[in-house]
Amino acid sequence: MSGKGQVLSVGVDLGTSQSAIATSSGERHVVDSFVGWPVDMVAKKVIKKQVLIGAEALENRSLLDLHRPLEQGLIKEGSEKDVAAVREILGHLIGVATNGKEVKVRAVVGAPAETLRVNKQQLRQVMRGMVDGLIIVSEPFAVAYGLEALLHTMIVDVGAGTTDFCVMKGRYPTEEDQRTLTKAGDSVDELLAKLIAERHPEIQFTIHMVRGWKEQHGFVGEPTDKVLVHAPAHGKSTQVDITDEMRIACESLLPPFTETMYDLLAAVEPEYQERVRRNVTLAGRGAKIRGLAGRLEAALEELGGGKVAMVEDPVFAGAAGCLSIALDADETDWEKMSA
Ligand SMILES: Nc1ncnc2c1ncn2[C@@H]1O[C@H](COP(=O)(O)OP(=O)(O)OP(=O)(O)O)[C@@H](O)[C@H]1O
Ligand SMILES: [Mg+2]
Repeated sequence: MSGKGQVLSVGVDLGTSQSAIATSSGERHVVDSFVGWPVDMVAKKVIKKQVLIGAEALENRSLLDLHRPLEQGLIKEGSEKDVAAVREILGHLIGVATNGKEVKVRAVVGAPAETLRVNKQQLRQVMRGMVDGLIIVSEPFAVAYGLEALLHTMIVDVGAGTTDFCVMKGRYPTEEDQRTLTKAGDSVDELLAKLIAERHPEIQFTIHMVRGWKEQHGFVGEPTDKVLVHAPAHGKSTQVDITDEMRIACESLLPPFTETMYDLLAAVEPEYQERVRRNVTLAGRGAKIRGLAGRLEAALEELGGGKVAMVEDPVFAGAAGCLSIALDADETDWEKMSA
């Protein structure tokens, strides 16, 4: 990957909470999808940088105009800053992947299916000048491609902003084969925060703390242990039991997930429905909620039984799938992106 004539193929998973890149030279990087600009002159002097990205931005959020630019799978409408933030994230990932070398970059970018419907043009604009060739695909399709799960399978990608469902029928999925729900990690966090505030009005917490509690203790079904967390009450560290709230918040995903699976299955040719039911794959870090696969399998029992399995690497499944597409793409598949 040294000379200018060389082509580096990359797969990018643009996510609401994390964005990841996988490259043909074997590099893999992930960054939290946060971008922050110093709020004023003082903050700029403290930070000594024009812009912070990822965990660094989150840690210094009190000094920053902090943006998490993708909400519910969409680039927030009408916000120049959010468009700029998406550009920073993509630029950062491509920058670390090329490591300052002058190479031609061809990128396959996976985005939530909904982004493709609404923001595809905007995403193209953002990528202009950054890469030499571009293909934009839906996230669950990228996951399916990477797993070579292209025929009679269903992918359920549980992200932060959206959960994307896709049934693979051996060809490029159409709109009817895909569904996007805004019931995902963020909606669980919001409900959990609301339930905790109602039940324990004395404690102080932020949405970041709630997300951390969910990532550590999230579960559906019967609890195996109590979920005990610490938060300040009137300034004093206090232990609270949030087992019930955690269960209710995480289980809020089950009815919409079940209904969407049923809907998509009903649209599969009758002779293949059982094969699809036996090939449901969960992707996305949001699917790491304990017991989720089991409860979805139980829901498929109603239809005659099924099998739900989790991808091995939910952090990189999307980016790796995009890279597979990049490596297989024909010359004519690439959109030329010269600025
Ligand atoms: N161990 C865990 N248990 C439960 N949830 C988790 C765990 N780890 C991460 N999450 C949640 O997963 C979500 C992020 O998943 P992921 O990184 O796949 O999303 P994304 O790709 O950034 O979002 P999207 O696909 O919606 O754009 C967040 O809500 C996060 O809190
Ligand atoms: Mg994702």
